[in-house]
Amino acid sequence: MFRLTIQDGVYLTLMEDRHADVIFDAVERDRAYLREWLPWVDLSTGVDDVMKFIRRSLEQFANNEGLAAGIWCGGEFAGTVGTHKIDWVNRKVEIGYWLASKFQGRGIITAGCRALTHHAFSEWKLNRVEIHCAVGNEKSCAIPKRLGYQFEGVLREGQLLNGKYVDTDVYSMLAGEWQRALKGQHVESGL
Ligand SMILES: CC(C)(COP(=O)(O)OP(=O)(O)OC[C@H]1O[C@@H](n2cnc3c(N)ncnc32)[C@H](O)[C@@H]1OP(=O)(O)O)[C@@H](O)C(=O)NCCC(=O)NCCS
Repeated sequence: MFRLTIQDGVYLTLMEDRHADVIFDAVERDRAYLREWLPWVDLSTGVDDVMKFIRRSLEQFANNEGLAAGIWCGGEFAGTVGTHKIDWVNRKVEIGYWLASKFQGRGIITAGCRALTHHAFSEWKLNRVEIHCAVGNEKSCAIPKRLGYQFEGVLREGQLLNGKYVDTDVYSMLAGEWQRALKGQHVESGL
């Protein structure tokens, strides 16, 4: 079983069927907070929806099309960090994430994105990693900025959130930039 420690007592694993209940409970507890920025929340109404997400994620991993990991903090489910489908033709991918509200403010998602960005460049040998955040989602935008991603621009009305089209900020990191940023730093690999 794959398990990657990203902070003291915090690790990533692939999500499995047996995790569906705790993941759904976490979504239920934070529904109001999550739905502000994540369009899928209203569509996730039962454990079956989480199960479908888990199975799609495992299939994606098995097909070498990316990965989605659960985040576990002190043995408790804390959120997810994962990739969209890898674009192998152009050697690029987009990272997405969410965190249960009680685990905010500890650098957990920053650490998860750092590990996934490193994996994308060092293991998958991709050239470009993107992070998209709705304009106004300051906590989310802070993550690529903290990791040294470059702001590229705005996708006008790039997301439909709660019945309203909102603009999307696009951040990117290129393989060469990551290598230069890494010099002198240690980043865990081995997802
Ligand atoms: C976006 C979201 C993941 C951000 O969570 P977060 O806890 O702010 O992000 P991190 O886990 O990386 O933690 C960063 C915070 O921890 C602090 N921190 C503490 N130790 C840290 C460390 N070692 N490294 C980095 N940051 C650290 C940072 O200062 C920052 O706090 P601040 O915002 O008060 O300055 C979360 O708010 C969320 O899930 N929101 C709802 C869903 C969502 O918006 N998803 C993203 C859609 S694009």
